[in-house]
Amino acid sequence: MHDTEETKNIMEYETVALDDEDSALVVIDQTKLPTATELLHLHTAQEIWDAIYLLKVRGAPAIGVAAAFGVYLLAKGIDEQDYESFYRKFCEYKDYLNSARPTAVNLSWALARMERVCADNRELPVAKIKQKLKETAVAMKEEDIRVCRAIGEHGLSLVKPGDGILTHCNAGQLATCKYGTATAPIYLGQERGYHFRVFADETRPLLQGARLTAYELQASGVDVTLLCDNMCSAVMRNGWINAVFVGCDRVAANGDTANKIGTSVVAAVAKRCHVPFYVCAPTSTIDMDTPTGADIVIEERPAHEVTDMWYEKPMAPAGVKVFNPAFDVTDNDLITAIVTEHGVLRPPYTAAFRELFASLQN
Ligand code: MRU
Repeated sequence: MHDTEETKNIMEYETVALDDEDSALVVIDQTKLPTATELLHLHTAQEIWDAIYLLKVRGAPAIGVAAAFGVYLLAKGIDEQDYESFYRKFCEYKDYLNSARPTAVNLSWALARMERVCADNRELPVAKIKQKLKETAVAMKEEDIRVCRAIGEHGLSLVKPGDGILTHCNAGQLATCKYGTATAPIYLGQERGYHFRVFADETRPLLQGARLTAYELQASGVDVTLLCDNMCSAVMRNGWINAVFVGCDRVAANGDTANKIGTSVVAAVAKRCHVPFYVCAPTSTIDMDTPTGADIVIEERPAHEVTDMWYEKPMAPAGVKVFNPAFDVTDNDLITAIVTEHGVLRPPYTAAFRELFASLQN
């Protein structure tokens, strides 16, 4: 079920919302942007799974919050009143949603947090557990907004008014509940008159940079220039870029970072051109259980996204072999700093992460 709306600015929409009365997860169908703004009201496990898999809702933090709302709504529909039966069904839904995409840790992180709500409250009646699940999912959305804003403040300390900033993919408001991660310094700078010049890579094959980043930045009045993915060297050699900000889907314990395919190329070119390369990462994206980038599972997606999608006619010979990994890993030595909600972390990252997590426990 969907509504089509045409009048509001895209920045006025919530990327992910809960309509508890209708028992629906409401998301903007991002595959239709920028030409149409359609709100999807998702009710079933299959609809929610499809929306995540098909990138109708996408971006690591947004997927996490969508899954949290989704699993709450599915739990709400469980009839069983004894804890063990309820929990068994809850886990089936959780595992199913978790299977939609493998790389962004936020999906499993958010679902694990929801599962803990069940386990920690097993003595309560099932109705009370459902209420706590709702409160936790709502809190996760609010936290995401606070975290993104804090990343924006720390990121802003790394640049100055008038700077040229390059970004890859969409780690913007559409990938989070507000502000984005890589775009948060840009939006905060915009509020404060920094007049950044932003360069957005189009981001083949799904064009998140062209369809989403350029769209939301332009809608916010930011000076944005669209680039094809193979132009980052040209603009950096022109001296137009003072910093690169990107998001991430999973940061390994040694700082190796998975983000949208092509990010590692930008990082390598940035190093060669002496441009600082910053990864914006909520601490929920840092996965201390994954030792290095080689241990990160990289999602592979269907061939038609490369050969046919977005084209009127296929743009490749029928039956050609296609390799379509959705993400790549940027080695930690190419990353100047990792910007979290708690501050800017510098190499060596393993030590910096350990210190950060220890300080958060105190
Ligand atoms: O496949 P996508 O569109 O979900 O990929 C998104 C990215 O790679 C983003 O950069 C990442 O999730 C960070 S979003 C704040």
